[in-house]
Amino acid sequence: MTPEIDSKAAWSLPSVMDYFANHRKTSAQVYESEWFFLKPLLKEGMSVLDIGCAQGGFAGVLGENLTRFEYTGIDISSTMIGQARQNFPQHQFFVTSENTYPQIPNQNFDLVLCLGILHLNSCWREMLTEAWQKTRRHLLMDFREHGGTTIEDISKSYFLMNFNGEEKTEAKLPYVILNSGEALDTLKESCKEYSQLKHFGYEHPVSESAVTPVKKVMMNTYLIERI
Ligand SMILES: C[S@@+](CC[C@H](N)C(=O)[O-])C[C@H]1O[C@@H](n2cnc3c(N)ncnc32)[C@H](O)[C@@H]1O
Repeated sequence: MTPEIDSKAAWSLPSVMDYFANHRKTSAQVYESEWFFLKPLLKEGMSVLDIGCAQGGFAGVLGENLTRFEYTGIDISSTMIGQARQNFPQHQFFVTSENTYPQIPNQNFDLVLCLGILHLNSCWREMLTEAWQKTRRHLLMDFREHGGTTIEDISKSYFLMNFNGEEKTEAKLPYVILNSGEALDTLKESCKEYSQLKHFGYEHPVSESAVTPVKKVMMNTYLIERI
């Protein structure tokens, strides 16, 4: 059986650090569904909070498109944050707990990004609530969904930390696949007083690192807006 390990340690593994040193750091490496929403939101002078920022790759993406912006990145891995600070000394980075970010003021950012992490956290509901509280305007986030029953049990659906395909690690995280109707209901409940909720999704085979009974998921990126 594959043992569950501390997720901070899992995200700090050398192969994971190597992966984010080379991926998800340029506009060309942003997924189509993310770019569809992100591109029209980019405005000079904007402020952005990136939850689960890894090595700050989205600061690089913003920097390719804007000359003036304020970027704050937060992550549970101090190793990721250490590298992010080296990559982007002009921006702010904090190590945080999994679902509370007391050092970050509420409704302080034009845009909050919470990409590629909710489906890998059992506390995704709390993270979503917290992410919504931090934005004064837009939240961009994603889920993995299907038409069947929601699967949250890590013994049934999990993600192995074998980024780069090299390291055969025993570390595993939950791989949460939500029923699409439940996903939408939870978003409406969690994002109090939203004014618009849009999504862009496509069917895609589950990640090669996922061990799960589901073969294909809807990768759904959502843009949620406050009035
Ligand atoms: C799959 S990467 C996503 C990186 C980036 N957001 C992207 O979309 O490319 C996950 C990152 O989120 C961090 N992370 C995972 N769970 C987190 C949580 N509950 N709160 C903050 N950061 C988290 C990990 O340490 C890792 O750096």
